[in-house]
Amino acid sequence: MRPDKQNLASLAVATQAVHGGNMADVTTGAIRTPLVMANSYLLPDDPSVMDWSNPEGLCYTRNSGHNQLCLEKKLAALEGGEAAAVFATGVAALHAVFFTILQSGDHVVVGDVTYEAVWRLFDELLPKRYGIEATFVDMSDLDAVRKAIRPNTKLLHTETIANPTTKVVDVAAVAELAHAASALVSIDATFTPAPFFRTLQHGADLVIHSLTKYINGHGDAMGGAVIGAAKLIGEIKHDALVDLGASISPFNAWLIMRGSVTLPLRLRQHLASAEKVAAFLASDHRIAFTYYPGLPSHPQHELARRQFAGKGFGAMMAFAVKGEPEKQNLFVSNLRVITSAVSLGHDESLIVHVGADGRGGSENYPKEFQEFGHLRLSVGLEDPEDLIKDLSAALDAVFKDM
Ligand SMILES: Cc1ncc(COP(=O)(O)O)c(C=O)c1O
Repeated sequence: MRPDKQNLASLAVATQAVHGGNMADVTTGAIRTPLVMANSYLLPDDPSVMDWSNPEGLCYTRNSGHNQLCLEKKLAALEGGEAAAVFATGVAALHAVFFTILQSGDHVVVGDVTYEAVWRLFDELLPKRYGIEATFVDMSDLDAVRKAIRPNTKLLHTETIANPTTKVVDVAAVAELAHAASALVSIDATFTPAPFFRTLQHGADLVIHSLTKYINGHGDAMGGAVIGAAKLIGEIKHDALVDLGASISPFNAWLIMRGSVTLPLRLRQHLASAEKVAAFLASDHRIAFTYYPGLPSHPQHELARRQFAGKGFGAMMAFAVKGEPEKQNLFVSNLRVITSAVSLGHDESLIVHVGADGRGGSENYPKEFQEFGHLRLSVGLEDPEDLIKDLSAALDAVFKDM
């Protein structure tokens, strides 16, 4: 008998990650969803009978495709949403949300620490070119959020754990404030995918992911996703896929589908290893500061404990070595296991050095970041003891006499 793999809501998350969206191929009987590389799908003999509003009706790969639909089913199940839309990149997914929800004259409240491309969109592009106003606000300060909301506020947008400072946001509290003002909440949960954190269950209207990171996890394909109520996702797909065209390739959708099979397992290891690595950094006298939500010294440690319900604190951290800013580069150049590269959530640990005046919005970072710059570390799947040895040996090389 064929297992009922599509009744996903009734299955546990590990089962969803393995079976979600995977369909046996009716032509060959292959038990894995085949990669369908085709720009177009057959039309009915009378194309006028096509139901163009049916999200499952395939005609042209910019609008949707078989591998895209399969991935969307799995992501919706994992995040506990009605529907998902996938895009070429995480930034395309973010832009799709803003483009669909906002129009000239609208106001947005945005986290004051946010992924750089989002910062630039709201700092420059959307206000100057499209008349959309934005207020950047410390989302961990609920009074400040309340005060920033205006009668024309349509959207509150923030990250669960902010890139790069690891500021943690109380998603349920922000959603309550937004909904009281009839605004929507979109949360970029790239640092906190399900099953670690199920953002929609905490009141968000839309959860956004860079699939490029943990969900694919193998550093070889880019993608983005938005998950939420079917009606809103339908609008996002229509406006931002059909009319803007930032569509994911079937091959990347297929790769991400495969990568995501091991997401729950990988996340467990990422989270456990990150706690060990952060504890090491926090205990070493040559480190100027370590920001990681799992450390008692982190400003939102108590919130993180409560919100993430003991499952972990993410696997991203920001720190700096003591001394003049050049020491950060010297430190990175002495790492032998951890790779110096942008991106995060890959199988391999990645570190990136950002200078003190590095990025848009960096004036809102804690003051130590402005003094030393910072190193953003994405803890990968290597043995945590090897990572600690690597960090320790690089510190020894930088501080030969200490
Ligand atoms: C939190 C966050 N959101 C979105 C993105 C953008 O994702 P992509 O690079 O897939 O466009 C990134 C990329 O680093 C990110 O860190």
